[in-house]
Amino acid sequence: MLTTKKLGLVLGAALLAAPFTASAADAPAAFNVCKACHKVEAGKNGVGPSLFGVFGAKAGHAEGYKYSEAHLKSGLTWDEATLAKYLADPKAVVPGNKMAFVGLKKPDDVTAVIAYLKTLK
Ligand code: HEC
Repeated sequence: MLTTKKLGLVLGAALLAAPFTASAADAPAAFNVCKACHKVEAGKNGVGPSLFGVFGAKAGHAEGYKYSEAHLKSGLTWDEATLAKYLADPKAVVPGNKMAFVGLKKPDDVTAVIAYLKTLK
């Protein structure tokens, strides 16, 4: 009886974990706030530039998008460290940029969003 119960617990835990592990390429919940302004398909710019292929690219990577001067002049490359700082506080990293977003306050959200951005290629 005890072993059956334990097995049930293990199975239950596996089922609970499945939705998170099985869909690694799906957007994390923390990305929902970004969707108001960003599309993830290549070439589709909205209020903000498409985020397709942004990881590892230089600031101003989306073709056909009208970036602010401040953003273009920043000379940043969107690697892990730069994105982590930018997503937590966009205005501090690129003063005068036009991304009207206060930033992700939870470090876990920043990590999850960066992991997702890496898959957009
Ligand atoms: C209110 C709209 C808005 C929201 C919300 C928003 N952004 Fe942006 N984002 C922009 C705009 C506008 C720019 C262009 C900034 C500029 O040109 O000054 C931008 C630029 C960027 C860039 C730089 C792209 C490049 O090609 O250099 C990244 C990366 C980015 N946003 C990621 C995110 C992520 C991730 C989120 C959610 C956590 C988010 N943004 C939320 C509007 C938004």
